[in-house]
Amino acid sequence: MASVTSLTDSVQQQLASALSATRPEAAGADPLLRRSDRADFQANGILALAKKTKANPRELAAEVVSRITTGDLIEDVEVSGPGFLNITVADRAITGNLAARLADGERLGVPLKEDAGVTVVDYAQPNVAKEMHVGHLRSAVIGDALRGMLDFTGEKTIGRHHIGDWGTQFGMLIQYLLEHPGELAPASEVDGEQAMSNLNRVYKASRVLFDSDDDFKERARKRVVALQSGDKETLELWQQFVDESKVYFYSVFEKLDMEIRDEEIVGESAYNEGMPETARLLEEMGVAVRSEGALVVFFDDIRGKDDQPVPLIVQKADGGFGYAASDLTAIRNRVVDLHATTLLYVVDVRQSLHFRMVFETARRAGWLNDDVTAHNMGYGTVLGADGKPFKTREGETVRLEDLLDEAVQRAAEVVREKARDLTEDEIRERAAQVGIGAVKYADLSTSPSRDYKFDLDQMVSLNGDTSVYLQYAYARIQSILRKAGDVRPSAHPELDLHPAERALGLHVDAFGDTVFEAAAEYAPHKLAAYLYQLASLYTSFYDKCPVLKADTPEQVANRLFLCDMTARTLTKGMGLLGIRTPERL
Ligand code: ARG
Repeated sequence: MASVTSLTDSVQQQLASALSATRPEAAGADPLLRRSDRADFQANGILALAKKTKANPRELAAEVVSRITTGDLIEDVEVSGPGFLNITVADRAITGNLAARLADGERLGVPLKEDAGVTVVDYAQPNVAKEMHVGHLRSAVIGDALRGMLDFTGEKTIGRHHIGDWGTQFGMLIQYLLEHPGELAPASEVDGEQAMSNLNRVYKASRVLFDSDDDFKERARKRVVALQSGDKETLELWQQFVDESKVYFYSVFEKLDMEIRDEEIVGESAYNEGMPETARLLEEMGVAVRSEGALVVFFDDIRGKDDQPVPLIVQKADGGFGYAASDLTAIRNRVVDLHATTLLYVVDVRQSLHFRMVFETARRAGWLNDDVTAHNMGYGTVLGADGKPFKTREGETVRLEDLLDEAVQRAAEVVREKARDLTEDEIRERAAQVGIGAVKYADLSTSPSRDYKFDLDQMVSLNGDTSVYLQYAYARIQSILRKAGDVRPSAHPELDLHPAERALGLHVDAFGDTVFEAAAEYAPHKLAAYLYQLASLYTSFYDKCPVLKADTPEQVANRLFLCDMTARTLTKGMGLLGIRTPERL
């Protein structure tokens, strides 16, 4: 495998050395290269240098130009405006670079990063014995896309599904099951749907008892204590709830076309044994203090309504541990045992205060430091068409499965309308890929911190910034490649390029740079925007440049090659976001 330097980086390097040859004090200065409408690239960095050295910017720019060798890479460079440089890349450099990318295979010439670390990604965290709803969608979709991008850069990612599988409500569930044995069928005998309906039934029935029968309530309380102290029979019953829930989780994640691995499902219960030690360490270090019997951590800058400090509760006065204790213990595990260098949490923005307090506590304890950092990708809310948090007509939270099923159904209509040579089976398969892709793309193409409207009509529209538009672009290219039959795509760097070919080629070349940037900033929407632009540039290329009817056999082959590289880049990029690109649509 040979990685390929992007044209952006090559031009940047040439400029940087021309700059430092012109003025020694410019060594290391950034030429500030940008894609521009006027030329392939525009460099703005000379202005700052002129200011620093008190030089006339246009004169300085002219000096820099005189030191740039035009030829294989840079075709032309000229001074523009107050002292910008407009740079045109040679046609043969564009085609040549893409050819090197194709030769590299799978990675399209994108290098692996040198300072790769280990990122533990905490995402897709449903709760045991509870239905997944629209609120669980974003964490799963964003987390999966971030992992895809990070892995591609060479970062090692480890997933952690911090499922809610511990705490007081389990006393109620377990006590009920103990008194009504047989209400949960063995996990091996149910499918996802049955599992959830059993769990729902048990949940509702036990809730009714809990609220109406004080004796049962008391027995349920005692059951929590038995659970926390590791009573064998209690744990066995608890395990039944976990197993049954997993059957359900897996069925939903399968619908989401997302791979979830059993060893990465490490819920709150996994940290149960470590929690007393976490508390002891924090107290010994003086990070946490006793206050009214509870063990808590205070923060100067975190205060409630009446300006009273809001503490993080590590251990309750009754000795019980809660959400904060399991998260703090999880941090120790991820840092010490998993050797994480970055902890990434993909959790609803409404939990951001919790994480601020947990991270600050971990920093004071030294578990987080300059070498290990933590970040919560707090994401916004999924809104309904009315701009309010997404609810059913009855005002209830929307079940995730219902939402996915509806998306697939809508996609089936779109696929069927366009499908000419597809069988019923193929339509069904495509509908799933288009529908789920649409849901994921709508989510990922918005900046994670923003809310977005769940609007299926818009999501499955063939026009505009949708995954279907991208999937069609991909399928159209495949159909051209099929039509070309024996004529193989091949690069011809000696050919002059049409402006639309240049624009497309330069954009394809920027794929790796884009993924690196999007991964470093945890910004899947930047990759989505890149892919949308790729499809748009392809569309205008296809409008302006006949492919199979091009002037010469070389031009046909070269344009097929551009098509092929576009398709490979599209499918790779979509794949990183967790979205499939069917060969035919
Ligand atoms: N299960 C929790 C919920 O549904 C989210 C867990 C987030 N992760 C964490 N490490 N706290 O709200």
